[in-house]
Amino acid sequence: MTQKVLIVDDDPDIALMLSDRIAALGYDTVRAGDGTEALELLQHEEIALVLLDLEMPKMSGMDVLEHLSQRQQLNDATLQTETNSGPRVSAPGLIPPIVVMTAHATVTRAVEAMKCGAYDFLLKPLNIDHLALAMGKAMERESLKQHVEYLRTEVESRYSVIVGRNPKITALTTMAKRAANSDATVLLLGESGTGKELFARSIHQWSPRRKHPFVIINCVALNDTLLENELFGHEKGAYTGASSIQKGKIEIADGGTLFLDEIGDMHQDLQVKLLRFLQDREFHRVGGTRQVHVNIRVIAATNRDLRQAVKTGRFREDLYFRLNVVTFSLPPLRERPDDIQSLAEMFLQRHIREMGKPKMALTPEAKSYMNTYAWPGNIRELDNAISRAVVLGIGPMIGTDQLGLTMLPDYKAPDPAGLSYHDALEWYSCHIIEQTLQRCHGNQTKAADELGLQRSYLARLIKQKNIHFIQ
Ligand SMILES: Nc1ncnc2c1ncn2[C@@H]1O[C@H](COP(=O)(O)OP(=O)(O)OP(=O)(O)O)[C@@H](O)[C@H]1O
Ligand SMILES: [Mg+2]
Repeated sequence: MTQKVLIVDDDPDIALMLSDRIAALGYDTVRAGDGTEALELLQHEEIALVLLDLEMPKMSGMDVLEHLSQRQQLNDATLQTETNSGPRVSAPGLIPPIVVMTAHATVTRAVEAMKCGAYDFLLKPLNIDHLALAMGKAMERESLKQHVEYLRTEVESRYSVIVGRNPKITALTTMAKRAANSDATVLLLGESGTGKELFARSIHQWSPRRKHPFVIINCVALNDTLLENELFGHEKGAYTGASSIQKGKIEIADGGTLFLDEIGDMHQDLQVKLLRFLQDREFHRVGGTRQVHVNIRVIAATNRDLRQAVKTGRFREDLYFRLNVVTFSLPPLRERPDDIQSLAEMFLQRHIREMGKPKMALTPEAKSYMNTYAWPGNIRELDNAISRAVVLGIGPMIGTDQLGLTMLPDYKAPDPAGLSYHDALEWYSCHIIEQTLQRCHGNQTKAADELGLQRSYLARLIKQKNIHFIQ
């Protein structure tokens, strides 16, 4: 479809001349003789770009810009209250990029117009090459903006729905929505796969910061130096190979939310630096001295028992108190069995759609097996089981075997209450190994490293204690 340019000028000769030139560049054109007419046209026509004269008798270009900027704020506020906004397209009523023109140009006017949302500023009489360049740039930026917005909604839609009617989950969702409206630091606790990242993303989505970045930093995936660099960025020459300034994720998240995943695994030295940042909201890049100030909301998550980590000295108490402002503990799936079927159905439909498979359903046996299964890997394990069944399934029905779940008769739900001292020690030992294996996706070398054990000793323990790990 040919893109349409709206030319707003009270001088009909200039408007006609511009219209001819712009048509020659391959666009459709539509004309308005004053601001009021322009606003009317913007409501009903699909306009790709506006060329706006600033000096007009009836309603000036500045008035149009101010009116549109207010309308944009209103649109944003409406979007914020909707949980599922579709991708933005240049439909009637939406505000296209605006290039302003004036014969009485001053720098102050240019700045004013840009502040009100104009994309560029051109001097009259117009040079057609400058005009073509400005229009091309404005449209390219708009198309990139829409592309980014589309990709963002794609990612968000995967995380947009919190499925579950279990009272624990509905209560947590209500509280999380309330917390989203504040800037309070949120700490998400829960076993692996219980939905901590989903909650973090949802809180960001429900918050007034939703238009700004949601930046994840995984505190376990990187070594200490890399993590510091990733968080705070570095100045040019901070170390060999640092050939230019690099912003850290804290800076990238400015205006939005920083999600510190696996915070319980952060090294002590970095805990001190993070604490300092959380106190002052200021930091300096690695190798620099200039203080950088940012406005971010912090959400942290861990599957570790942080209080225990504080007791054993692995986690700083002051940092724990700084993070532990609004805390949500996400229940494991086995504590919300009433949600298993609806989650399974949601994953089933999603995977069928994504893999382009024909309709499939779970057999009654598979469903009842799922209800009694312990789900040590929680919702992620359920997602993986359904995904596997959809990939491998050949008929319309998914039976128990296709789920690939192995019931562990000796699976120990994490509740050592009531055990004797020795049994509780044994239970904790198994639990720690299972949890570490889960975090390391079954990689024994990595797990041994994390636990500070020899790989061969860990393998012996796994065998002796009859520990099973299902990924
Ligand atoms: N209530 C829910 N409704 C729908 N999907 C969910 C729900 N909870 C979790 N999920 C899905 O389950 C998967 C695992 O969730 P998520 O990654 O948020 O868990 P996590 O607690 O961060 O896990 P880990 O500690 O291993 O990083 C994701 O695909 C997520 O979208
Ligand atoms: Mg996670």
